[in-house]
Amino acid sequence: MGYKVVVVGATGNVGREMLNILAEREFPVDELAALASRRSLGTEVSFGDKTLKTKDLAAFDFTGWDIALFAVGSEATKEYAPKAARTGCVVIDNSSLYRYDPDVPLVVPEVNADAVMGYTKKNIIANPNCSTAQMVVALKPLHDRATIKRVVVSTYQSVSGSGKEGMDELWDQTKSIYNPVTEVPPKKYPKQIAFNVIPHIDVFLDDGSTKEEWKMVAETKKIVDPKIKVTATCVRVPVFVGHAESINIEFEEFLDEDEARDILREAPGIMVVDKREDGGYITPVECVGDFATFISRIRQDSTIDNGLNLWCVSDNLRKGAALNAVQIAEVLGQKALKKG
Ligand SMILES: NC(=O)c1ccc[n+]([C@@H]2O[C@H](COP(=O)([O-])OP(=O)(O)OC[C@H]3O[C@@H](n4cnc5c(N)ncnc54)[C@H](OP(=O)(O)O)[C@@H]3O)[C@@H](O)[C@H]2O)c1
Repeated sequence: MGYKVVVVGATGNVGREMLNILAEREFPVDELAALASRRSLGTEVSFGDKTLKTKDLAAFDFTGWDIALFAVGSEATKEYAPKAARTGCVVIDNSSLYRYDPDVPLVVPEVNADAVMGYTKKNIIANPNCSTAQMVVALKPLHDRATIKRVVVSTYQSVSGSGKEGMDELWDQTKSIYNPVTEVPPKKYPKQIAFNVIPHIDVFLDDGSTKEEWKMVAETKKIVDPKIKVTATCVRVPVFVGHAESINIEFEEFLDEDEARDILREAPGIMVVDKREDGGYITPVECVGDFATFISRIRQDSTIDNGLNLWCVSDNLRKGAALNAVQIAEVLGQKALKKG
């Protein structure tokens, strides 16, 4: 016996990937509803070897459905997630709306799977920001061994992290540079993204940081340990899928680079590819469609007593969103919504 599952935002980048991952991981689905806006009514989406027609979220009744995987942005989530949750359907949400709510668990199953049980307060579980998800998978096993004091992270984030419109803008702008007849001015991004990098994701805050950077700080504290200090610089790069991060970590205790490599090799969700030779590391194009968080370039930081540097790459639509959401559903199934 399986679950009645709703995928909300099924025509989007994350929604389509959630459908793929539910099928790939053979999540026990008895019935599946694919929802999007009225604009997409009847649009066909794939679920394994089946084709489903999308229904209108505004007209959908969640009564009797077990789990709803939401990927529609904060505005639509605010309107529809509480409605779904009130019917008894457990919402697993990809937007940032509930991540900092003390009554909503923020979960990365490799790190804090037990926190899932906090869902009962609101019937909602939050998925973290894509850049946080892959980073905490890497930090947790190292924190358990040597206690992290401070993290300095710089991100190289792909355009799929800002939805379908971001991917279209990179594609159209790139073509327009080769064929200048059609100019494609920046619309989704504040500056040209093709052949450029932009040190600005989400809105600016009073202290000069951006909301994306703040999210990495606040979410790492909520998921791993409130004592960890994080400082982040988040940058959008002209890559379609796959986020990369350069992470510098300062520990309480000394951690040798070889031991760190061994710890990461054994850790859940991680694949270490770290050969000190040409191409002996992972780049974003190589991680697309994969489940793992890839770690390369593990090395001592000799400028401080207990420091390490590493390079972390993952498919942002998968570990950064869809895969993490499906993993949460799997944990929920094992711990709470047992079937058959
Ligand atoms: N992309 C990432 O790496 C990533 C990572 C973590 C979290 N997230 C979060 O996941 C969510 C979705 O992101 P995405 O990248 O998949 O965006 P996207 O590609 O732009 O897709 C958005 C989806 O939401 C639907 N939608 C939007 N407004 C709606 C409304 N009022 N009613 C019903 N459906 C509506 C769209 O339906 P139509 O096609 O009908 O418009 C589409 O299916 C966002 O909250 C985002 O912040 C994304």
